[in-house]
Amino acid sequence: MSGHGPAIPMTARPSGPLRGTAQVPGDKSISHRALILGALSVGETRITGLLEGQDVLDTARAMRAFGAEVTQHGPGEWSVHGVGVGGFAEPDGVIDCGNSGTGVRLIMGAMATTDITATFTGDASLNKRPMGRVTDPLAEFGAQSFGRSGGRLPLTLIGAAQPVPVRYTLPVPSAQVKSAVLLAGLNAPGQTVVVEAEPTRDHTERMLRGFGAEITVADMTEGRVITLTGQPELQAQPVAVPRDPSSAAFPVCAALLVPQSEILVPGVSQNPTRNGIYLTLQEMGADLVMENPRSEGGEPVADLRVRHSPLRGIAVPPERAASMIDEYPVLAALAALAEGVTVMRGIRELRVKESDRIDAMARGLEACGVRVEETEDSLSVHGMAQVPGGATVQTHIDHRIAMSFLCLGLAAQKPIRVDDASPIATSFPVFEDLMRALGAQITRENT
Ligand code: S3P
Repeated sequence: MSGHGPAIPMTARPSGPLRGTAQVPGDKSISHRALILGALSVGETRITGLLEGQDVLDTARAMRAFGAEVTQHGPGEWSVHGVGVGGFAEPDGVIDCGNSGTGVRLIMGAMATTDITATFTGDASLNKRPMGRVTDPLAEFGAQSFGRSGGRLPLTLIGAAQPVPVRYTLPVPSAQVKSAVLLAGLNAPGQTVVVEAEPTRDHTERMLRGFGAEITVADMTEGRVITLTGQPELQAQPVAVPRDPSSAAFPVCAALLVPQSEILVPGVSQNPTRNGIYLTLQEMGADLVMENPRSEGGEPVADLRVRHSPLRGIAVPPERAASMIDEYPVLAALAALAEGVTVMRGIRELRVKESDRIDAMARGLEACGVRVEETEDSLSVHGMAQVPGGATVQTHIDHRIAMSFLCLGLAAQKPIRVDDASPIATSFPVFEDLMRALGAQITRENT
């Protein structure tokens, strides 16, 4: 929803050991895709474990506006009756994607090769983010867009009446752009090809295959080459959404920070395009064990057992960035209590997320008494034995900035307050309750 409600300041206080089991919600990326692919399929797609965060609820509402029947049956249990590839109806009103870059970019792709027009908007954070990265390739299919300066939302997209397939090399490592092109390619005749120099999360490719599309992936010298044959009839599929590795990173990092903690986080996706944070934590010395590795809903998953560990700073390999792009904020918070410097390079994309995350983390850490250095595409955090804390941090309508500082506040000398924790509801609505149940002292103002 574009109306960003009243701010909810929240405070994390130094806490005793975190103990117990953390059932984190379903994966946000897969949840968006389950709804969109369900809407583009023929028949009923049954989804279990859907993330019921605001970002995903906004996508569900959008799919209804394009003509799909989307129903909630119980917690995390949803069904989608799709309209088929090319079957989207023209929405009556404006499509409001709230805070969600994934929602708006994937939906623009999904409608761009159908002969309809839709207008998209979002909240103050989303309306600042670049959309040209999606509307440029969609123009190659024949779609037209009219947005604000810099191609920003609100934006009207006129779908191509006679789409042509596209071969597109991603100029930035972005699964959202890749997915928008592939979803547009569904309703173009012939083969749409996307080339990515660095592999980004591959849920769209995996799920398209699961829904019956003809899609191949080849590792070539120019990178990963994904070829989709257009105009398939997608078949409705049951989708079991695994738990979100990006959400899991918050309780995992909190347990690493707070002495004597030990927690279990079951059923977390370990998809290799998403697990960079866990490799990084292990390299930093984390006592983090992947128990009971198995496959669920077509994704590798494991139960994560984490014990508090002394950590050392490392240089994170830049080529790992895409596989942990959403985890740099919590890593930066954790690095404040590691021994030595943690250097994060090749992270320019963080500047165009829900906030400029390099800037938001750098300013917040400085406010907490931590030394940092930043460049256009890097952030270095100087670890210390004790983080002073005792500050209010600006979260800039960014859920991951809010959660990162609330985790750090559990292990700082003085409480850390965030000016607005309300955006946490976009991706991890049960964060506060889940963390409290583990023993975290996280409170809303005046509670
Ligand atoms: C996502 C891709 C990433 C990530 C976002 C979710 C997705 O964005 O940051 O939270 O579901 O495709 P980019 O594709 O812009 O890197």
